[in-house]
Order: sequence, then structure tokens, then C-alpha cells
Amino acid sequence: MCGITGYIGYQQAAPVILEALKKLEYRGYDSAGIAVLHQGKLQVRKMQGRLHALEARLASEAAPLQGTLGIGHTRWATHGEPSDANSHPHRAGAVAVVHNGIIENYAPLKAWLCGQGAAFQSGTDTEAAAHLINYYYQRQSRDRPHADPLASAVAAAMERLNGSYALAVIAEDAPDRILAVRKDSPLIVGAGRGEQFLASDVPALLSRTREVYFLEEGEIAALYRDRIAFFNGQGETVHRKAARIDWDAAAAEKGGYPHFMLKEIHEQPKALEDTLKQRLCTGAGGRRDVDLGDMPLEDWKNARRVVITACGTAWHAALVAKHALERFARLPAEVDIASESRYRDPILNSGEVFMAISQSGETADTLAAARLAKAQGASVLALTNTKGSTLAREAGCALYTQAGPEIAVASTKAFTTQLMAVYLMALKLGRLRGSLTQEEYCRHLSALEEIPEKARQILGDERRIQRAAAHCFHKAKVFFMGRQFDYPVSLESALKLKEINYTHSEAFAAGELKHGPIALVDNETLVVAAATQRRLFDKIASNMQEVAARGASLLVITWEGETAFDRTAQEVFPIPRTEDSFSPLLAVIPAQLFAYYCATARGNDPDKPRNLAKSVTVE
Ligand code: G6P
Repeated sequence: MCGITGYIGYQQAAPVILEALKKLEYRGYDSAGIAVLHQGKLQVRKMQGRLHALEARLASEAAPLQGTLGIGHTRWATHGEPSDANSHPHRAGAVAVVHNGIIENYAPLKAWLCGQGAAFQSGTDTEAAAHLINYYYQRQSRDRPHADPLASAVAAAMERLNGSYALAVIAEDAPDRILAVRKDSPLIVGAGRGEQFLASDVPALLSRTREVYFLEEGEIAALYRDRIAFFNGQGETVHRKAARIDWDAAAAEKGGYPHFMLKEIHEQPKALEDTLKQRLCTGAGGRRDVDLGDMPLEDWKNARRVVITACGTAWHAALVAKHALERFARLPAEVDIASESRYRDPILNSGEVFMAISQSGETADTLAAARLAKAQGASVLALTNTKGSTLAREAGCALYTQAGPEIAVASTKAFTTQLMAVYLMALKLGRLRGSLTQEEYCRHLSALEEIPEKARQILGDERRIQRAAAHCFHKAKVFFMGRQFDYPVSLESALKLKEINYTHSEAFAAGELKHGPIALVDNETLVVAAATQRRLFDKIASNMQEVAARGASLLVITWEGETAFDRTAQEVFPIPRTEDSFSPLLAVIPAQLFAYYCATARGNDPDKPRNLAKSVTVE
């Protein structure tokens, strides 16, 4: 979704802003723009297309954009098609505004503002916010306690804006500050010396500062060169403590890989190790144990049911969590897509616990579902990769994965670390609830400890997958099937291929083959079967026969040394043996690589998939 950046300091703002925008490219966008203030004049440059087009245009101008204060934006179109006019920043009178989110009541606001004489230049919802702020700025809102008329105007506008927004605002006669505000969309202020930064996401700030403030809901920040002031919606000053980000700046760079996605696939062994290390400990009597930090273990130990919600890849992790919690902890689990559960008036009874899984901790639907659960009095746990994210803060209790920054839109290491965290959680609960003996618990933990090394082995076999992708990338129809733990893996594998290779791919529980998908199977079809559930080998083998008999090409992901499928499958991607229940941690890796190499064989940029966004901060 849209990316926002801002800079105020002693350096030329345009290069700093462009550099930060590049770091936000992964969020997905179709247009870009920048506004810089110089000698009381706003200079706005914006256009449809990629950042390099904007950069080229700036470079072609006779003189570079001057000014040490400015804002920048990458737009992911919601209201109004991608075009130069609809790109941000939007100007209204003396102010320029960039926005992430959706102003839901923009139509009545626009009608009212037009009645007040405002002239709109674009088809966006954002422009209504810009004109509204300008309207109050012109009137200076003297009835408010702020000394700052721009902050007053922003606060007054906020009272009339419905929907979600992160806004950065600058004004011609306010050369000493940037105003920033958020509601239901993330915005982060980075503190420097004699300079301050603003961004939608942490990776954009990492090369500049580690001291950040996560803006709270409805809070206004005023960034001056030498300080940052925070106000609540009533205009009262709020004292905030900076958070320190411990992510390595290099982790947000490609580090020699052609794409972030490939780098992140390769980072999985380390990310899995880090996620394990953070949780494994020595318990009573020197026995190995799992420390789940702040997780309210008593609530979970005694829970009658757990409800898990998430979107996209995180939803697939939630499906694995259901299997793991039921298998190891005998804890009934229900999984809900967040955008569905939030509107369904879900039933949460006492004695039930709730978990939201989200890499970013900023996905709008997941946040809404978690808020609803909290409002119903449920014990809410966030499983997230992002410290300081809205979900982590609002849930009140968070379990963190140690994936480090994930930049590629197609999630890889965030997924496998989510899986590692839910397995650890399920095992610990299994022990606490008495469904696992100490011996079983230790055996399962040992198996998990071997996973990072096994993941490394799969990555060593990358060329085989690349070769298969070279033969398959053009297939128009790809089905993924699996049973039990292999079903969420199939869903995730299909999503990867869809996201970056733009293949019409579908996943189903293999038992459903005869209930529909088989009608579409012909000799143009590629079927990828995940076959790691030994108990069900015969069943999946029959499903493979059924698709092969109808002419489909077949790829199989299965255990190393397994020969059961050799005669049916064109290609086998072997994974090192572990317990069947833990197979998703490994089986998804060949599928990630397959999608990656299909996309690059097709000539797609896997890091910038069309129409997709890394963090879906609007509904
Ligand atoms: C978007 C991303 C996916 C991600 C999903 C949920 O669709 O492209 O990669 O899985 O959002 O994101 P979250 O940050 O909540 O895990």
C-alpha cells in the first residue's frame, strides 16, 4: 500500500526522500511524488509509474529541487486510476499532503468543500483531506489550545475525516515543521540530530536512525529540525519515549542477491534458528523447555478453545497452528480469515483465547478482528514479526518471530518463522495440558532443533528446482494438493505462484479432488502434490494416479529417499526427513523456490508483483 516519507533537517530533502521511498517500494505502488519547501514555495513533482521515472524527471530539470524540508509518497491506487493528477502529494492552497489509507466520507466532504470554493484537481479521496486541512489552516482554528495553526488545522480536519489515514502535511508558511498524524494506518517518526524523518515502515529509516516513535492512534507529531512534539487529539502535549530498533540495516538490503525474495528464502535457516533460540531454555531440573515470554500461559493452558485470525500467508500459518495445537496440545482451534470474522459477529465465550498472526502487525482486517476480540473481553495474543506494530501494542501481549525485516511482497521467512513459533507454542501447551509426556516433548523439541540445518540442505538443491521451473513457468493452470499438514502448504505454494508468476493456481485438500477440481485436469495442467503425511501416503498416491491418468504433469514434494511416487511424478523435490507434523517448515521451501524461478524465467520482477502490496493497511 502507499508509502509515506518525510524529511526535515540540514541536508537537501529530495535525495533523502527518494532514498527512503526506494526502501518502501516493496509495499507496492503505481505512482510516486515529492513536495519540497524552499524559500516559502512548495515545489511538487509527481507522476504515474515507477520511482526511477520520477528520478529521471527530476534529473532532467535544469536545477535540482532545493529545500531541506519535504514529503514523499508512493501511491497504490484505491480511489481514482493511477495517473499524474491522482498521484500524491496533493496541494490545496498553502498546504501539501501525502496520505495512506482511505477517506471514506470523501464524497460529502468534497461536495461541502466545493461549496466553500475549493477547486479539486484529482479523483482521489485524499484531496478532500488536503482541502479540509487547508480550509481550517486558512481560518487558523483559534479556538484550539495549540500554538501551532497547522497542528490546529490538522486536528480540526481529523474530527471530520472518517476512514483510515496516515497523513504528512507541510505548508508554505511553515518552513520549520512537518505535521504527521495517523488513524488505522501506520506511521513512524525517526529521530536524528538536527534532522527528523518520517516513514510508513521501519526499513525506510534503518539507514538513518534507530530511534523511532510509533505514532499512536489519533496522535499528531510535529517534526522540527531539533525536536519532535507530540499532541493528542485534544491538543495536549504528550510525552513519548523513543523505541530502539535492533534490526540490522544490512538486513534491509539485497546483500548480493538479485532479489529480496531470493535473499529472504535463503535467510530462512538463520531466521528459524533465531526464532528457536529466542524460545528454547533450560527448565526445572535442567530439562529443555520453551519460554513463551509474556504469553498468558494460564489462560491458554485452561482454554476450552482458541480462535486464530489472519490474512494471506499468515492465514496459512494459522491453519498449520490449528493442526499443531490440536495434535500436540489437544486444544480445539478455529481459524478465521480476518476480513470475514470482523463482520460476522464472532462468538467468543469465556475460557476461549484469541490469537492474531501478522508479519507486519499492521494489516487492517487483522487489526479490526483483534480489536473486536479484545472488546469482547478475550485474552488476545499477537504473533508478529514487528516490534512496536499496532497489533503488538494493542493486543497487549505479543510473541515475536525473529525473521528480521521482510521486504519482498511474497512472504517466505515470515511464514516459516510463524510456523516455528506456533509449533513451539503447541508443544509447550501440550506439556502444560498433560497431552505430551516429558519424553515426547523433548523428542519433538529435538526434531525442531534440526529443522534449520535441514532447511539449509533444501537450499543446496536449488538448481534442480530452477530446472523444473524453466520447464513449467508457462503453464496456464497449476493445482496444488495435499492432505492434513500438506494442505496449508499447498495453499501457501499456490499463493506464491499466483503472486509472482501470475499463474492461475489453486490449492485444495487432496480429498476434494473428485468434488470439482478433477473436471479441469487435462494434459495442459500441472499438479504439484505435497506428500509428507506417511499415514496418508496411499490416499495421496491415488490422487496422483487420478490426475496423471488425465494427462496432467506431476511434481511431488516428499521425503528424501521416498520412492513411492517415482513412477507417477515427472519430478520429485525431496526434503530431509523429520516428523510428519513438522513437514510444513520444510515442504514449503521448494515451493517458494519454484515460484521464484518460474517468475524470473518469465521475466517478472518477483519483488514488485503487479497490484500487490506488502502491508494491506486498508480494507
Ligand atoms: C499481504 C502480503 C502477504 C501477507 C498478507 C498479510 O497480502 O502481500 O505477504 O501474507 O498481506 O500480512 P501480515 O503482515 O498481516 O502478515
